[in-house]
Amino acid sequence: MKTQKNIIDQRRPIIMANWKLNGDIDLLCKSVSSFVKHAYLAEVVVCPPYLYIRDMLNFLRNSPIKVGGQNISKHDSGAFTGETSARMLKEAGCRYCIVGHSERREIFGENNISCQIKITRALEANLTPVYCIGESQNEYEQGLTEQVLSHQLREALEGIDLTNKNLCIAYEPVWAIGTGKAATPEIAQTTHAYIRKELCEMYGAEVADTIRIMYGGSVNKTNAHLMLEQADVDGLLVGGASLDPEHFSEICRSAEETAKGVCL
Ligand code: 13P
Repeated sequence: MKTQKNIIDQRRPIIMANWKLNGDIDLLCKSVSSFVKHAYLAEVVVCPPYLYIRDMLNFLRNSPIKVGGQNISKHDSGAFTGETSARMLKEAGCRYCIVGHSERREIFGENNISCQIKITRALEANLTPVYCIGESQNEYEQGLTEQVLSHQLREALEGIDLTNKNLCIAYEPVWAIGTGKAATPEIAQTTHAYIRKELCEMYGAEVADTIRIMYGGSVNKTNAHLMLEQADVDGLLVGGASLDPEHFSEICRSAEETAKGVCL
């Protein structure tokens, strides 16, 4: 359970909607209207498809909800057709950017090295990268989870200085994404504690204690609060359920309750 005020104050609960390649502008705006009331104590971030980012930013101008990108280019500028840079996202008004989602790794050939470049670009642009890591079903069954996560963390964060910078980690076991089979809260906690231990070895306890580690993979309105109760689960990265306004609103409410509990 979350009890240590000094630690939690630095790790405000964060709920992030990854809308992937879904929705249209009407649905997305309607959906946002339903959970804005739960975005004051907890931090709520929506990551729409690129084309809707400006619309969302305009729509959310007087709201506490923040906007993030689902991906960024490795490049800052130049002849890279179809790409969008971290600097452009920041200029538009985004605060966050997802990096290394397993769908980007599996479908678009991204790896830890490309993630390292993207994390660097995001930090240079003062965007907070949300670096996604997670093991496959096969790796999970073979007991390789810690080995895989350690490699994903150490290779992508190699040489990255976090002094005065913000980074979030999202633990998204690939076997839990879009399958309806979320990790149990106990598995999430054990794995998040391991991730924090790795971050502690890499950056020291003071930095590791401020890094928010989010869980993603079949989060829904029923399991959200059970996840958020875990000491090292600082937020949730939500796919499918974020497209259902009622579900996502409930998930944000759980985070708001958690925030209330820890902000006393
Ligand atoms: P689901 O919540 O649909 O399992 O997706 C998780 C995810 O990929 C969030 O980035």
